[in-house]
Amino acid sequence: MSPKQILPSEAILEKYGKALAGKAVLITGVADNSIAGELALQVSSADPKLLILSARAESRVAPIMEKVRTTKPNVATRFLKMDLSDLSTVRKAAESDLADVPQIDHLVCLAGVMGPPYSQTKDGLELQFGVNYVANFLLVKLLLPKVRAAGPSSSVVVMSSSVVRTCKVHFEDIGFSNGETYHPVVAYGQSNVARVMFVKQLAKKMQGEGIRIFSIDPGAVLSGLQRHFPAEFVAQVEEMKKAGPAIDADGRRYDYPPWTGRSEGAATVITGMIDPTIAEYNGAFLNQNAVANDELHAHINDENNWTRLWALTEELIHEEFSL
Ligand SMILES: NC(=O)c1ccc[n+]([C@@H]2O[C@H](COP(=O)([O-])OP(=O)(O)OC[C@H]3O[C@@H](n4cnc5c(N)ncnc54)[C@H](OP(=O)(O)O)[C@@H]3O)[C@@H](O)[C@H]2O)c1
Repeated sequence: MSPKQILPSEAILEKYGKALAGKAVLITGVADNSIAGELALQVSSADPKLLILSARAESRVAPIMEKVRTTKPNVATRFLKMDLSDLSTVRKAAESDLADVPQIDHLVCLAGVMGPPYSQTKDGLELQFGVNYVANFLLVKLLLPKVRAAGPSSSVVVMSSSVVRTCKVHFEDIGFSNGETYHPVVAYGQSNVARVMFVKQLAKKMQGEGIRIFSIDPGAVLSGLQRHFPAEFVAQVEEMKKAGPAIDADGRRYDYPPWTGRSEGAATVITGMIDPTIAEYNGAFLNQNAVANDELHAHINDENNWTRLWALTEELIHEEFSL
């Protein structure tokens, strides 16, 4: 297994990209300025058979589809409409719109939202928890048969963030008292911790199947994600860095991630999808193209929390996810 190293996507693809040839890849969160958009372009260079590109609006995906059509006309692309703040659209996408797709080799869940003012999803969930986590739980549940149909070495990759280092799932009040106690960053952190714990529990339940399951910290990338933050956000982060290392939930010091380009942001996702050297670490949290479970704190590592979160999420989506 390689050590942690910030690398561009091209470097990972050069080593392992052949594994993507002829594959069907579904990516959520695709836009011209998003990590998922960059991932779609990077993956297209490795000659997949089909790229299913998901967003709320086709106009977000259109520039990426156009670029793929121009540079890689042999790669089929297809738009998948889904609004993760409305679970009925996730069900429609998975159950109807993809009915003719027999297998998905890589299911890559990158769509997300960071730090908006308090609001709720159509299903009454705090927005970040609903979009960043609960919708992904349902999407993975509904599409798992197609990933299984693709066989071993297929993957489920779910985005997370370095924010998990200081955050937890607030089981006692998951919805922040309907917004009364809402803090945008705390809620973003909660949704990302949930993503990591979901991946760990999924990998545990699917042990022995050979399907790759990873959560990802992509580092820090200027993209559409910072839209809810003030223009001074980057300067504020730099000030925090100057003040010294951050402290995680277990009291350990760590460094804030450096800013990189989108290619570096997508690289660890590609590591999760295809790097064969990490296969034995299934369920791991990845950062800088390597397994980074050592960065997780006790609350995230507590398997009781994985079980509790799974049961809670089944209640929230009103269906079981049995494996
Ligand atoms: N950028 C970073 O530094 C960073 C660091 C750590 C983690 N991450 C994670 O990486 C992922 C990608 O972030 P990014 O930097 O690429 O941000 P981005 O440019 O904002 O991309 C996020 C994408 O998610 C989509 N999205 C938001 N709400 C949605 C919804 N309700 N339904 C469907 N799609 C929705 C957005 O679509 P619209 O444009 O239509 O809203 C956008 O295309 C996120 O999950 C984020 O938490 C990013």
